[in-house]
Amino acid sequence: MSGLTILVLVVLALTPAVISELCNQGDKKALLKFKKELGNPTSLSTWIPKSDCCSKTWEGVLCETDNKTYRVNGLQLPQLNLSGPYPIPPSIANLPYLNYITISNDPNLVGPLPPTMAKLINLRNIDIHHTGISGNVPDFLSQIKTLIFINLSYNNLSGTLPASLSSLPYLVGISLRGNRISGAIPDSFGSFSNLQAMGLSGNRLTGKIPATLANLDLTMVDLSGNLLEGDASMLFGSNKRAQEIYLAENQLGFDLEKVQLSDNLYALDLRLNRIYGRLPKELATRKYLTFFNVSYNNLCGEIPQGGNMQRFDVSSYDHNNCLCGSPLPSCSGTLIAERIIPRKDII
Ligand SMILES: *[C@@H]1O[C@H](CO)[C@@H](O)[C@H](O)[C@H]1NC(C)=O
Ligand SMILES: *[C@@H]1O[C@H](CO)[C@@H](O)[C@H](O)[C@H]1NC(C)=O
Ligand SMILES: *[C@@H]1O[C@H](CO)[C@@H](O)[C@H](O)[C@H]1NC(C)=O
Ligand SMILES: *[C@@H]1O[C@H](CO)[C@@H](O)[C@H](O)[C@H]1NC(C)=O
Ligand SMILES: *[C@@H]1O[C@H](CO)[C@@H](O)[C@H](O)[C@H]1NC(C)=O
Repeated sequence: MSGLTILVLVVLALTPAVISELCNQGDKKALLKFKKELGNPTSLSTWIPKSDCCSKTWEGVLCETDNKTYRVNGLQLPQLNLSGPYPIPPSIANLPYLNYITISNDPNLVGPLPPTMAKLINLRNIDIHHTGISGNVPDFLSQIKTLIFINLSYNNLSGTLPASLSSLPYLVGISLRGNRISGAIPDSFGSFSNLQAMGLSGNRLTGKIPATLANLDLTMVDLSGNLLEGDASMLFGSNKRAQEIYLAENQLGFDLEKVQLSDNLYALDLRLNRIYGRLPKELATRKYLTFFNVSYNNLCGEIPQGGNMQRFDVSSYDHNNCLCGSPLPSCSGTLIAERIIPRKDII
């Protein structure tokens, strides 16, 4: 056989493989490096060089198909099963078309988010939860202008909240629940332009909730389980969409009678604070109200009668200064006591 014939045969043999491969070679190289930098976990054993990374056989790898660019645009790795502690490989930044990242349920994923991630300028959802990643919530996230959802819940993040996040123009949801984040909520958090859901529960946030948060129109806010104090009335408003307000287990103190409630209120969890005043009468007209707990506060006066208010358990109202009326005992005793005390003072 001549050299030419061999060459032709070799080319013919290779051609189908080359044509049938949809995977971008740069993306493939980045994925294989990512795998290696995570210690070649068995969960990624389907990532093999001789197969097509866009053939849907590569565990958790998604490729763009609408416009037939076949660039890797999603990584869904809910269970990496790492064999030891590994940081998020900086090579993740070599997948420039990534829209979605989900990595979860692996305490062996440790260390800070790599700064190279700022290069992921098409990233829309970052969802890294229940891992051991630590360090600050990085400031560089605010450079990724495409972000719509940030979910870094139940990790080991610390430091303070970066004020710059509020400059993300399309951000709709942020969840940083269950970390060790401390310090105050930045004033700038009142200037998110599209934010609808904010979950910051289970951290070590201190100080007052900034008054600027009155500018937000959130459907869900969860600040439970922090060390926040003072007023929270700016989160309420009859003109707001608020469906779910979770403020339990803080040191909040404000007059609840003065807040205005949205029509759509679905869940209100204010337990274990220092909230005072009476329950707003409008609670009895909120027909969607399904979860309600104001126990362990300093509330007083009659529980509004009507709507769902009498369907909630006694434990939703327990341990206040002088709440009364169904489902708690009737107010008559309490009201008499209130009348008698001033008379005693006069005598
Ligand atoms: C991870 O490990 C668990 C237990 O060893 C196993 O059941 C599961 O299939 C593994 N998941 C992957 C994606 O390899
Ligand atoms: C496909 O291309 C169109 C037109 O350029 C663009 O609007 C759309 O966002 C693209 N879709 C994807 C999934 O990239
Ligand atoms: C969290 O990070 C700290 C260091 O910042 C480390 O000492 C601790 O072991 C980590 N905890 C977990 C559960 O990973
Ligand atoms: C973030 O992840 C947690 C943990 O799985 C989940 O419960 C929550 O719904 C997610 N939040 C958002 C905004 O996606
Ligand atoms: C209300 O909260 C208190 C305090 O955490 C708890 O003991 C009680 O079971 C809760 N009740 C309901 C109905 O959620």
